[in-house]
Amino acid sequence: MTRPALRLGVNIDHVATVRNARGGAHPDPVRAARAAEAAGADGITAHLREDRRHIRDADMFAIKAAISVPLNFEMAATEEMLDIALKVRPNAACIVPERREEVTTEGGLAVAGREDELLPMFSRIRDAGIRLSLFIEASEAEIRASAAVGADIVELHTGRYCHDIEGRETELARIAGAAELATSLGIECHAGHGLDFDTVGPIAAIPQMHELNIGHFLMGEAMFTGMQTAITRMRRCMQEARPS
Ligand code: PXP
Repeated sequence: MTRPALRLGVNIDHVATVRNARGGAHPDPVRAARAAEAAGADGITAHLREDRRHIRDADMFAIKAAISVPLNFEMAATEEMLDIALKVRPNAACIVPERREEVTTEGGLAVAGREDELLPMFSRIRDAGIRLSLFIEASEAEIRASAAVGADIVELHTGRYCHDIEGRETELARIAGAAELATSLGIECHAGHGLDFDTVGPIAAIPQMHELNIGHFLMGEAMFTGMQTAITRMRRCMQEARPS
């Protein structure tokens, strides 16, 4: 098969985490989004959490206005978030599960068995011209359920692949199989969570992969080397794993 060009989406949430630690305006996530775009990001991702622990409502609007690459609006499947997303009008809405006490998005969204409950909200997203992306575990049931609710994109959760070193090969095979199935059903395949310079290669090498979304590691690395160097190196790692 011909491989799609692999895009890098950069998540800038944790610039807002640092800003919020002092309650002021610095560092500004909008400036980070612009810097990431200038450094070669193909898209910007930001997650407006229910508790507003990092990105805030005004950030979303300001980021959307400031960038010319697509905005991926990560959100929980709630009426409150839907209302904001419909006003921000991002390129895509990535629906994630959210628990207030979690440190980060810990697992994939449960779509299977909840199709009837989720479909009305998902239809409103798609009817607004916003691409529907579902952050799911790499399981056949979740992919088939995502297809049933009209997902344009599935983003496969790479957290277990990154953190369970002993089970990594098994998880990688599961992700590769899921990418193949999703693509065969006409769904664009993305992946993300926990990726770094060492773990990104095998995921980038999956032929059906369209986009990787990377945040925490890249923002941490940018503190030492700057956004340009961190993003350039990540793109190189992706490219080397995926010769055209
Ligand atoms: N994709 C989704 C859906 C996420 O929730 C996150 C974390 O915010 C990421 C990608 C990026 O994960 P990380 O920050 O670990 O790179």
